Amino acid sequence: MIRYKKVGYCALNVSDLQKSSDFYERLVGLEKVESDDPNTAFFRCSRDHHNLVLTQDQEPGLNRIGLELETPELVEQTYEKFMKLGLNPVEVSKKELDILNQFTSFRVVDPFGITFEFYSDMIQVPYEFKPTVADIQKLGHVVLKTPNVEDSVKFYTEVFNFQVSDYVGGTGSSKKGGAFFRCFPVSYHHSFAVFESEEASLHHVNFMVSSIDDIGKGVNRFENNGVDVVFGPGRHAPSGAIFLYVLDPDGLTIEYSFGMEEFPEENPRKPKFLQPVPGIMDLWGGAADPRMASLGKIKGLVRETIKA
Ligand SMILES: [Fe+2]
Repeated sequence: MIRYKKVGYCALNVSDLQKSSDFYERLVGLEKVESDDPNTAFFRCSRDHHNLVLTQDQEPGLNRIGLELETPELVEQTYEKFMKLGLNPVEVSKKELDILNQFTSFRVVDPFGITFEFYSDMIQVPYEFKPTVADIQKLGHVVLKTPNVEDSVKFYTEVFNFQVSDYVGGTGSSKKGGAFFRCFPVSYHHSFAVFESEEASLHHVNFMVSSIDDIGKGVNRFENNGVDVVFGPGRHAPSGAIFLYVLDPDGLTIEYSFGMEEFPEENPRKPKFLQPVPGIMDLWGGAADPRMASLGKIKGLVRETIKA
């Protein structure tokens, strides 16, 4: 059985590496980690070598999602499982592992074209992450748009062993909706989620912060620095989290959130089927700017991630 430690990192493609690096370091509050690769920038908000990877690319969007498994044995077992299922997992080369500072890792493309990377161990930075402008706790979750929620739920639960925390609409014959997943047995209401849309793309990347002050200070800091706030501050109905969404320099959507329901590994509550009423995404009555989650092209495994 696949057991996850966490959603470990997210790799984004950005059109101006310097500009985006400045945004994520100075305004979001991640710490840049030194790298010899001029086309790639690594950032952390934990002891991990990276929790966010930015790669210079003509087209901004999602490169891949890194999922940390509990043990190296699970990496091997999951690779074998995916081979048997015909998913064609691809091992990350030694050369790229050196650049990534990771141990045995492999990638697989899901039926919607999204690349996931599975690994268990990454080099740890020998000193703690020191929060700066925001007290970031962790990379919280990555949310995608998917052309078919039912198919996504089937794949991610049956193949990846994610568990559904809640559904939004999208049940039975009504396909429009979404689903929030726990990367089993990670306790958070969602480390991953999908919402139905025309085609697969990135919806947003989330960083969990430690207090409501991080949300409030963030509003002012982002606005004072010309960053577009596209939703919030508000409170999500499904998870109870207080949120703030902003656009990065390319228009990719980034979220801060504070607080989230947690689930026990054994005997968790049943998923709720939430009615997709207008206020579901914000109990405080706010509405999202149409630019939110409007950009986030998926780039598959075919391209070399690291241009070493
Ligand atoms: Fe979120």
